[in-house]
Amino acid sequence: MARDLKSISFRMVFAVLVIHAVLLPMLSYGLLTVVRDFQEDGFVDHVRIYSRVFADALLADDGLISESDIVAGLDSSILGGRCVHAALNMGDRQLLSTLMGHDDADSFVEDFNFGENGDDVYYISTPVQMGEWSAVLELGFDELPTLLEIESARVSILRFVLIYLVLTVVLVVILSTLLSKPLRRLRHDSRQIASGDYSRKMSVSSDIFEISELTRDLEHMRSTLVGVNDRLEEEIRSREVAEAERRKAEVHLRHMHRLQSIGTLAGGVAHEFNNVLLPMLLYTDLALEDLPSDSPVRPNLERVLKLAHRAKGLSEQILTFGRPSGEAMDVIDDIAPFIDEAMSMVRALIPASIEIRLHMEGPIGPLVCNSNEIQQLIVNLCSNAFHSMSKGGGLISVNLEACSVTPEFAEQHPRLVAGNYAMLAVADSGEGMDAATIERIFDPFFTTREVGEGTGLGLSVVHGIVAKHEGEIVVTSEVDVGTTIKIYFPLCEV
Ligand SMILES: Nc1ncnc2c1ncn2[C@@H]1O[C@H](COP(=O)(O)OP(=O)(O)OP(=O)(O)O)[C@@H](O)[C@H]1O
Ligand SMILES: [Mg+2]
Repeated sequence: MARDLKSISFRMVFAVLVIHAVLLPMLSYGLLTVVRDFQEDGFVDHVRIYSRVFADALLADDGLISESDIVAGLDSSILGGRCVHAALNMGDRQLLSTLMGHDDADSFVEDFNFGENGDDVYYISTPVQMGEWSAVLELGFDELPTLLEIESARVSILRFVLIYLVLTVVLVVILSTLLSKPLRRLRHDSRQIASGDYSRKMSVSSDIFEISELTRDLEHMRSTLVGVNDRLEEEIRSREVAEAERRKAEVHLRHMHRLQSIGTLAGGVAHEFNNVLLPMLLYTDLALEDLPSDSPVRPNLERVLKLAHRAKGLSEQILTFGRPSGEAMDVIDDIAPFIDEAMSMVRALIPASIEIRLHMEGPIGPLVCNSNEIQQLIVNLCSNAFHSMSKGGGLISVNLEACSVTPEFAEQHPRLVAGNYAMLAVADSGEGMDAATIERIFDPFFTTREVGEGTGLGLSVVHGIVAKHEGEIVVTSEVDVGTTIKIYFPLCEV
């Protein structure tokens, strides 16, 4: 309600009504006064001229005309129309029109203004004089026709004023609608823009110059602000991307640091361990050599020797993770036969209930690598895939293909550079891993398998081998769906 009272339409109509409420009564009153004065003055002038002419007509060259002529004249003035009283007063005698009653003779009261005495008759006396003789002509004229004309003029003026007022209000309503409609449209558009519809254009067309200018200025402002907004959004987006990348790199770096320090520590321990193991192996060997073949101590010493060899194998695995092994790297033109060989080993180890699919693209290009280590890596990954599956079986697929690493992909994996790589992927339909497990899988001795079942060194060794080959490992896994481990090895430039 309060909003309607403040609207342009209401204010314009209200202003027009207030102005006209003051002006129209004044105008009507002025017009009415002019008309009334005009009518009254016309009446009085007419009456005076008529009386004078009539009085002059009563005179003959030698005095008054005969009495019968005077009476006939008085009668004719009443019969002629407006005159209602006609008498000639000659001092001691009075001649009256025969059309008047004798009582009417006394009703004469001289009027000086129109409408005086409230008798609706304008009485006028005109002296008739000739030499020493004099008489007074008394005439009374009916004021009613003039009063009726004044009344009808008043009604006409009021009707005109009313029609004028109605037309003015209608015109103002039309004008205010013309003015407020584009403004309402502008308001609607502005609200839409403010609520987030930045692409909405302000295209209100109006013949009113101020409104079309306002529309143009607002549209200019909108397009400028949209530009600024787009730039800000773009900036925020790129900052968010940069921030996410920074966080990812930080996590990666922390992970690398952790692996490095664990590797250094584990490497040191394995080294010391080796220093102890080697004399143990040596002295046990020597002791066995000196023992007779049927000695009852021999089986025990052989067990010690076997376990010491196993321990040596373990410490070598730790060393593989901790620092590059001394095994030589060769340029291998086609890695496929080595992978085939590793897969035959895998097939021999894994039960037939698990399907194994191997897919290798044609020659993918020369690779600097150690084939034994690559085979060890495949066996470890397939062994993990196998262990992640329930007894019911599943699928392990191994793929080898050439791929080119894009700069965007390289940015996400700092150990890669844009270029050509051989990509080895081992995917399984096993139990998968959650994020917390993925975070720790490369840690030496991290295992989720039962005590005594897994050493937790398999993926640490894989990590060491991939690092040595300057490659990268990408792990994707989903609980109850499966895991895919992709390994990228750089191809030689040819
Ligand atoms: N394909 C996979 N699916 C599900 N979990 C996996 C997979 N590969 C690795 N893991 C998880 O990572 C852990 C560490 O693996 P890793 O190969 O290092 O050790 P392990 O397999 O437990 O023991 P080891 O390899 O010495 O016998 C595993 O215990 C398992 O929890
Ligand atoms: Mg393993």
